[in-house]
Amino acid sequence: MSEARPLPASLATARAVAVPILPLRLRGVGLRLGGAVILDGVDLDLGAGGCTMVMGPNGAGKSQLLKLLHGLTAPSAGTIDWNGHAPQAVRARQALVFQKPVLLRRSVAANVDFVLRARGLDRSRVSALLDHVGLAHKAAQPARHLSGGEAQRLALARALATDPEILFLDEPTASLDPASVQAIERIVARAREGGTRVIFVTHDIGQARRLADDVVFLHRGRVAEHGPARDFFRQPRTEAARRFLDGQLVV
Ligand SMILES: Nc1ncnc2c1ncn2[C@@H]1O[C@H](COP(=O)(O)OP(=O)(O)OP(=O)(O)O)[C@@H](O)[C@H]1O
Ligand SMILES: [Mg+2]
Repeated sequence: MSEARPLPASLATARAVAVPILPLRLRGVGLRLGGAVILDGVDLDLGAGGCTMVMGPNGAGKSQLLKLLHGLTAPSAGTIDWNGHAPQAVRARQALVFQKPVLLRRSVAANVDFVLRARGLDRSRVSALLDHVGLAHKAAQPARHLSGGEAQRLALARALATDPEILFLDEPTASLDPASVQAIERIVARAREGGTRVIFVTHDIGQARRLADDVVFLHRGRVAEHGPARDFFRQPRTEAARRFLDGQLVV
């Protein structure tokens, strides 16, 4: 597996950063789905730069929170403010990678080319992007023949093709082998170093320790804790987070 290389500056797209979309500010955000309260009274402030790991037990509302931040769903209460912009208005400046990558039934290269073409970006960047995620040698293969880890790297290449200011990742390494996990983490770390703001959902405590600048711990649809990663891992303030870090069932 080839080492993730930073995209050459000449191949990176010029970001349309007339007005930055950070900080992000949530106040009293609630989400109801089918009569159930999924998120409740979420206040959150995220500044520019770094990697925020979103953690919490199954059903805590992590995936739904990412969807709200990315403007795929609207909150039932409260406000989500990307430095004065509504989530829908800045979605094109962000990218979201799901746990199960959504790929086109085309070749690996065509999957990246599609994104570039759709956005009117430089299509000659396909090979640099595939090289960046270690998939240059698979360019002509059908994407559906990729392994789970390879497919996830292709999903990342598609996400990075738009040079997003915000990269949302929802458990992108669940069920991958250790080498694939490492490859994905390297690519994410490079994106972060390149100035992309990363918001990453994981259940993998080791991964969170490796990548996090700060941790948001969600529990029952609320932000139970948000703070610097070292404080969270050394001394979680809530019983739920303590149990979570101990590997105990948290309900
Ligand atoms: N369309 C829906 N209608 C009703 N409830 C829903 C809907 N979608 C999600 N939920 C519920 O919202 C809650 C939060 O879901 P979410 O997917 O955000 O959890 P999560 O923290 O990402 O969990 P996991 O770690 O299992 O991925 C869950 O209890 C889920 O069952
Ligand atoms: Mg989820």
